[in-house]
Amino acid sequence: MYFTVEPSALKSGELTVPGDKSISHRALMLGAIARGQTRIRGFLNGEDCLATLAALREMGVEIEELSATELVVEGSDSGLQAPPRPLDMGNSGTAMRLFAGLLAGQPFSSELVGDASLNQRPMGRIIGPLSDMGACIDSSAGKPPLLIKGTRTLAGIAYRLPVASAQVKSAIILAALQAEGESTIIEPATTRDHTERMLQSMGARLNIDGQRIVIAGKQSLEGADLEVPADISSAAFIILAALLATACELVITNVGVNPTRTGAIDILRDMGANIEFRNARMSGREPVADIVVRSSVLSGVDADPARVSLAIDEFPMLFVAAAYARGKSTFSGIGELRVKESDRIAVMTKGLRQLGARIDESDDGAVIHGTELSGGTVDSECDHRVAMAFSIAGTVATGPVRVNHTDTVATSFPGFVECLGSLGIKIDRHHEEPAP
Ligand code: S3P
Repeated sequence: MYFTVEPSALKSGELTVPGDKSISHRALMLGAIARGQTRIRGFLNGEDCLATLAALREMGVEIEELSATELVVEGSDSGLQAPPRPLDMGNSGTAMRLFAGLLAGQPFSSELVGDASLNQRPMGRIIGPLSDMGACIDSSAGKPPLLIKGTRTLAGIAYRLPVASAQVKSAIILAALQAEGESTIIEPATTRDHTERMLQSMGARLNIDGQRIVIAGKQSLEGADLEVPADISSAAFIILAALLATACELVITNVGVNPTRTGAIDILRDMGANIEFRNARMSGREPVADIVVRSSVLSGVDADPARVSLAIDEFPMLFVAAAYARGKSTFSGIGELRVKESDRIAVMTKGLRQLGARIDESDDGAVIHGTELSGGTVDSECDHRVAMAFSIAGTVATGPVRVNHTDTVATSFPGFVECLGSLGIKIDRHHEEPAP
């Protein structure tokens, strides 16, 4: 599949975007091991979360779909059943890493498989600590597929994460919940804390002190009513479109604005973006707000590396913002982008250069000189966020932009094309494979 985008005027208005991907995965998994029912509203019915849903059903969990976005999970009180076949995680690193933690504590063997992109992603970062806790995990030289021999006798762990990763943190937390004794996890930088917040709303005992989490073992969870806010990582593309447009004001309602997720908003504000949070409130334990964004003149920025882990999924969007900004932008400490759904530093650099941008790439960063971008053809290399970032670049380029390999947009933002279309953007989806 590929998209074509023509330069177009963005209409002002109010909209919402689909549910948060990270929170939707966690709601399913925690609901599945809790006691009693968990009702999930605002669920993201994107391919990544549907992979998690299908995997839980393979392990005997009953999940009723009241609608595409409202589910009821019958909790198994940690009693999952051995899956009859390998569990397909699709494109989802979150599903694979969090399931590894969950299945490490279950008394059966399971196999986790994924697509070509997921098969390239590092799993040593979870295999190490989970093995230290007593799980037995085979991989293909530290990459998927994973063969997990779980055990009811995991031991608690004291672990300092070598990389800032909410996926690794959450995998260890899920194993620690099932282990004997207490576990202590220390993060090198703050990462998204949805697991911790959701566990607390389901009655778990956790002690959180800055970047140190202490969690008691052998805990059971209580089913809960969970509201999933709109995904700020999807809203980010709409925010970018509004910023780059002329005289546009958009209101994106009910967006999750957990401070562990808003690093990109701060970076954009440093670039001169006019972004306001209105009606800030709590939805369960997650902060939400309506985001008001107005077209702005952006200037280059030297992004604070301390914000990287709080903006980790938004760099494809930020690369495009920087490419259109006045002056030079510097992003450093972003080496983790090389092990996301694609090597995002390389793929963004290549594509933006094809549209006329000036970018110098380094091992863990990029320097981007702002300019006007031209039309052209770029390849997302099957990375959903790269595909969406290039699509937004096309809304204000000097000619049409074609974005190749866009199928994976459905992993996180189903309805992306329709959403932009409703805002007046001329974007079309073409179902045939792009010519090589
Ligand atoms: C996620 C954590 C992040 C992020 C991913 C979702 C999560 O990965 O990039 O899209 O739901 O925990 P890392 O924590 O590995 O950086």
